[in-house]
Amino acid sequence: MKKQFRVFAAMIMALSLILAACGNSGDSGNSESSGEGEGNGSGNASGGDKVKLEIFSWWTAGGEADALKALLKGFEEKYPNINAVNAAVAGGAGSNAKAVLATRMQGGDPPATFQVHGGAELFTWVDAGKMAPLDKLYEENGWNGVFPPKIVDMNSKNDHVWAVPLDIHRGNVIFYNKKVFEENGVQPPKTFEEFFAAAEKLKAKGVTPLALGDKNIWPATMLFENTLLGKLGAEKYAKLWTGELPFDDPAVKESANIFKKMLGYINENHASLAWQDAAQLVIDGKAAMTVMGDWAEGYFVAKGWKPKEDFGWIETPGTENAFMVINDSFGLPKGVENPDAVKKFLSYLGTKEAQVTFNKIKGSIPARTDVDKSKFNVYSQSTIEDFQAAKESSSLALSLAHGSAASPGFLTKVNNAVNVFVTQQNVDQFISKLKSASSLLKK
Ligand code: GAL
Repeated sequence: MKKQFRVFAAMIMALSLILAACGNSGDSGNSESSGEGEGNGSGNASGGDKVKLEIFSWWTAGGEADALKALLKGFEEKYPNINAVNAAVAGGAGSNAKAVLATRMQGGDPPATFQVHGGAELFTWVDAGKMAPLDKLYEENGWNGVFPPKIVDMNSKNDHVWAVPLDIHRGNVIFYNKKVFEENGVQPPKTFEEFFAAAEKLKAKGVTPLALGDKNIWPATMLFENTLLGKLGAEKYAKLWTGELPFDDPAVKESANIFKKMLGYINENHASLAWQDAAQLVIDGKAAMTVMGDWAEGYFVAKGWKPKEDFGWIETPGTENAFMVINDSFGLPKGVENPDAVKKFLSYLGTKEAQVTFNKIKGSIPARTDVDKSKFNVYSQSTIEDFQAAKESSSLALSLAHGSAASPGFLTKVNNAVNVFVTQQNVDQFISKLKSASSLLKK
C-alpha cells in the first residue's frame, strides 16, 4: 500500500514538473505579465522561484526605513510571486548611494529600479539614454491628471514621462522642541530677525539653538538654499538656476551673510553628525531646532514623538508662503532583467494604497492629489494644504540640495563650496566659488 502511494506521488510530481515547464517554455514575456496580481502565476522562467527586484534607495534611517519596509510589504502582498529586495545604501540624500548607482549604471548593471529626485537628477539618466519612457504605463494606470502638473514636469523631458512620483517632501521647515521653546519663553520665528532673537535667547540660557548634522555636507547646503528662498522669494530664487540671476547679486551675498550668522548658533559637533543625529539632539532637548526636510517628521514619529504635542514646526524664515519641493520618484532603467515585473512595482507605487502606506510613515505627502487627507496626521494634513496653496500662488521652489534645481555636477561644486564656507566663513570667497560654478548651469 505504502509503495503504491509513493509511486503515485512520484508520478504526480513528475507530471506537475512537466506542466510547469510547459507553462513557462519559450514565452518569458507572457510569464512576466501573467497574474502576479492574483497570486497565481509563477512570474518567471525558472519554474516557481520568485522574480527578484532590487529596489535601490538610501532610505535607512528611522522613519524612512520603516516607510520603505511597509511599501515593499504591501507590494509583496499584492504580488506574492515577486520578491522586492531592499537594496538601500546608507547615507542621507544619497550621499553614498548616488555614487554606487552611477558605477552600476555605467557598468551596465542597473538595479531593477532606483530612487531618484525629479528634475535635473533624473534628467541626467534620461539624457544619458539609460531610462525607458513610461508614457504607456501612465496611460494604463489612468495617471494622467492624477499628479500635480509641476510634479509631472519634474518627471518629464522631451515629451515623455520617465519616472513615477512616490512622494513630495517639504524642505523649508524648522522643527522645534516644544518644551524647550516653552521653558525658554521662545516663539516660533517667522522672520530672520525673530530667528536670531530666539537663537540669542536660547544661547544665553545654554541651549544649542540650531542642530545641524553636516557630516555629509548637504544639510548645510539645505540651510543655505532655504536662506536664499527666504531672502529672494520663490520667483527670484528660480532665476538662480536658469542663470538669470547671478550669484554675485547683492541679495545672494546677503543670504550668505545670514547663513554665516546662523552657523554661529549650531552645535559644536555638527561635522561628525548625520541629519538624524541632529534631529535626535532636538528630541533629547539638547538643541531647540533643526532645519530639515520633513523626513525628520518621520524620524520624530518613529521615535514616539507626537506632532503639536512634543514638536512644533514652522517654515524657515521668510518662506511662509513658499514650498521647497523635494520629490522622490522611481523609473525603469534600460537593460533590467524583468522589465514587466518592474512595471508592476512602478504601477503599485502610483496606487492610492501605496502612496498612503508609504507617506504616512515617511513624513512626506502623497504625490497623488486624490488621496483622502484624513488618513494622515496633523503635520502632513497641514503640508498637503500648504502644497496646494503654494501651487496656486506659484510659490513652489525646486531644491538644489536634493537634485531638482540643477545638475549633479553643479550641485557637487556648491556642496564643496559650502563645505569650505562652514569652516572658513569667508563670504567673498564663497560667492566667487558659486559664481564660477554657475558656468555649469544650462542657460
Ligand atoms: C532626500 C530624499 C528623502 C530622504 C532624505 C534623507 O534626498 O529625497 O526622501 O530620504 O534625502 O535621506
